[in-house]
Amino acid sequence: MGRLHLLIIVFLSISSVTIFMPELVAAQLKTNYYAKTCPNVETIVRNVVNQKIQQTFVTIPAVLRLFFHDCFVEGCDSSVIVASTSGNTAEKDHPDNLSLAGDGFDTVIKAKAAIDAIPSCKNKVSCADILAIATRDVVQLSGGPGYIVELGRLDGFTSKASNVEGNLPKPTFNLDQLNTMFASHGLNQADMIALSAAHTVGFSHCSKFSNRIYNFSPQNPVDPTLNKTYAAQLQQMCPKNVDPRIAINMDPITPRAFDNVYFQNLQKGMGLFTSDQVLFTDQRSKGTVDSWASNSKAFQTAFINAMTKLGRVGVKTGKNGNIRRDCGAFN
Ligand code: HEM
Repeated sequence: MGRLHLLIIVFLSISSVTIFMPELVAAQLKTNYYAKTCPNVETIVRNVVNQKIQQTFVTIPAVLRLFFHDCFVEGCDSSVIVASTSGNTAEKDHPDNLSLAGDGFDTVIKAKAAIDAIPSCKNKVSCADILAIATRDVVQLSGGPGYIVELGRLDGFTSKASNVEGNLPKPTFNLDQLNTMFASHGLNQADMIALSAAHTVGFSHCSKFSNRIYNFSPQNPVDPTLNKTYAAQLQQMCPKNVDPRIAINMDPITPRAFDNVYFQNLQKGMGLFTSDQVLFTDQRSKGTVDSWASNSKAFQTAFINAMTKLGRVGVKTGKNGNIRRDCGAFN
C-alpha cells in the first residue's frame, strides 16, 4: 500500500512536471542522436560552415538569425527554409523574414548536400538539426562559446507566412512586450537578454531604427536614451532618404566578434534598437546587463543555456515531422 502511494505521488509529480516544464521536451532530443546513422554529421556541417564563412562573414549573423526566426514560428522545424509555391506563401516571404540574409539558407542547403553525399547519411539528418548545428558553429567560430547541441528534431509539415504575424519581436518592443513574447516559448527574462546579445554580430537596415534618429517624438527629435555621438554617426550612415538596401553593423565596436561588448554598448547608450537599449534603461533588466557587461563567462553560460532552451521550442518528433529531402520543399 505504502509503495502504491509512493508510485501515485511520483506519477502525479511527473505529470505536473510535464504540464509546467517545457524543458521536458528535451527528453526527446539527444546529444548523440545520429551516433548510429550519421556519426560524422557535426564534422561535415562544421566544414561547410567554415568554408561559407571564408567566402562571406555574413554567414555568421545570417545563420544565427535564421535559427531564431525558425524556432519562434512553428518551433525549430526548419519551416522558415521552405520556399513558397503557387498554392502557399511560406514563412520566408512574410515581411518580417524578407531581411533574412540568403547566406543562412545557403549554408543549410550546402550542409545538407554534403551530408547526403555520404551514402549512409543520405536523408537521415533533418534540416532543423542541420540549422541547429550550424548555429552552434557560427557562434563558436566568431569567438562565442562552444556547446553541445541537442539533436533529434524533425522537419515540419507547415510553413505559412500568416503564422509569422505577431510571433517575431519588433525592434520597437519594450521590456514587457519582449518578456511576454519570449515567455510564450518558455524563455524567461534572463534567456531573452542573453539571446538579444546575438546582436553583437550582424547588420541592420536603416529603416529598422530610423524612428529613433528622426522625428522620435514632439519633445525629442532623437531618442534621448541614444548616446549623442552614436546618434550622430547613425544619422550620417543612414541619412533621411538612404538607399533601403544599406545595412550597418549592429555592434559598432566589435562587429565581427561574438562577445559581451553588446552589453557594454548598452551601458553607453549604444544599443541600436529600442528593444536592445530598453534592457539597460528598464531597471528590471539593467542588473543583468551590468553583470554580463563585466563578466563574459557568466554571459556565455547564460547564452548556452538560453540557446539550448530555444532549440527545444516546438520540436517535432514521431508523426509530427519527417526528414525533408530538400530543405526548401516538403517531400
Ligand atoms: C529580442 C528581440 C529581437 C528583436 C526585436 C530583433 C530584431 C532584429 C532586427 C530588426 C534586425 C535587423 C534586420 C535587418 O534590418 O536586416 C535583427 C538582426 C539580427 N538579429 Fe535580431 N532581434 C531580436 C532577437 C534576436 C535573437 C534572439 C537572435 C538570435 C539568437 C537574433 C539575431 C539577429 C542577428 C544575428 C541579426 C543580424 C542579421 C544579419 O546580419 O543578417 N535577434 N534583429
